Amino acid sequence: MNILVCGGAGYIGSHMAKMLSEQGYQVTVFDNFSTGNRWAVKWGQLFEGDLLSKKDLKKVFERNSFAAVMHFSARSLVGESVKKPELYYQNNVIGTLNLLETMQRAGVKQFIFSSTAATFGNPTSDRIDENHPQQPINPYGWSKLMVEQMLHDLASAGRIDSVSLRYFNAAGADPDGAIGEAHDPETHLIPNVLQSVSGGKQLQVFGTDYPTVDGTCVRDYIHINDLCNAHLLALKYLQTHSGAHGFNLGNGHGFSILEVLQAAERVTGQTIDYEVEGRRPGDPPTLVADSALAQQELGWRPEYTELEAIIATAWNWEQNRRKLGL
Ligand SMILES: NC(=O)c1ccc[n+]([C@@H]2O[C@H](COP(=O)([O-])OP(=O)(O)OC[C@H]3O[C@@H](n4cnc5c(N)ncnc54)[C@H](O)[C@@H]3O)[C@@H](O)[C@H]2O)c1
Repeated sequence: MNILVCGGAGYIGSHMAKMLSEQGYQVTVFDNFSTGNRWAVKWGQLFEGDLLSKKDLKKVFERNSFAAVMHFSARSLVGESVKKPELYYQNNVIGTLNLLETMQRAGVKQFIFSSTAATFGNPTSDRIDENHPQQPINPYGWSKLMVEQMLHDLASAGRIDSVSLRYFNAAGADPDGAIGEAHDPETHLIPNVLQSVSGGKQLQVFGTDYPTVDGTCVRDYIHINDLCNAHLLALKYLQTHSGAHGFNLGNGHGFSILEVLQAAERVTGQTIDYEVEGRRPGDPPTLVADSALAQQELGWRPEYTELEAIIATAWNWEQNRRKLGL
């Protein structure tokens, strides 16, 4: 079975390519390297191309016969999306539409989509399940929700069957330390905490007056391999379930920023200094997933439920990354 992994040079896509290869799937990575890394493409064949080029898409589908598409490609910086919304609608919505059209022409019907907690906007409950209203508060969230809507309409028309997986905060790295998170700029908490230890990067904590356990924002961190495992289960689910499905993926435990820092201190054995800044607009106090539906329907169980275990894999990667000069 050949799986097209769009965005396979990125953080999550590269882990997916590795897991698929290890499970015996053939993998084709399609990426334009706008935010991905060449060194991260180690599994399967590479096709360098852009979702905004219908020619590139036509070529990759003509040269291969795909059983399914996993779509990780996107721009995904909330702040950037507020400043440059057209970039987000073009890349994330038009790019995905191009991909879905090309798939249909090639007779490929199964699609797994990287959606996000950002489609829910401000939470109206402690835990966010699939019935929570989807009311994004930024163009990034809207661009992902628009794709979810297209997938519903395509399923109703009997054209594409899909699973949209709404990730909360992806974290950690494959335990073998060969790949991991390397965004530029890095906006995610755990790599920034670890880079403050290993590279002296100044760490900032935005807001210490939220109504949470210690005043800092609470988030749900889900290990990258647990996320990838959910994609394998979604692929199997599509063999027996037509339509458009959506599942929230988190490990169901919220951790405050200060709890993350304390866990990182225990993992690294170092003291972590930080500066306190004001709140960032659009940061809700708490975002925690209810993943009961994914557990029930996909049979998914996150293995990394302890924060320290997640951070330990990210720390292993951070040290290797420095050694390799990546
Ligand atoms: N990282 C998270 O915590 C998180 C949380 C929720 C959802 N997501 C979603 O998961 C997906 C993967 O996230 P990530 O952190 O791995 O991001 P990433 O930036 O590391 O990876 C995205 C990949 O897509 C490629 N890409 C982007 N636009 C493209 C285009 N037009 N044509 C071809 N390739 C293109 C990039 O070069 C990159 O390799 C994204 O869709 C993101 O929105 C991520």
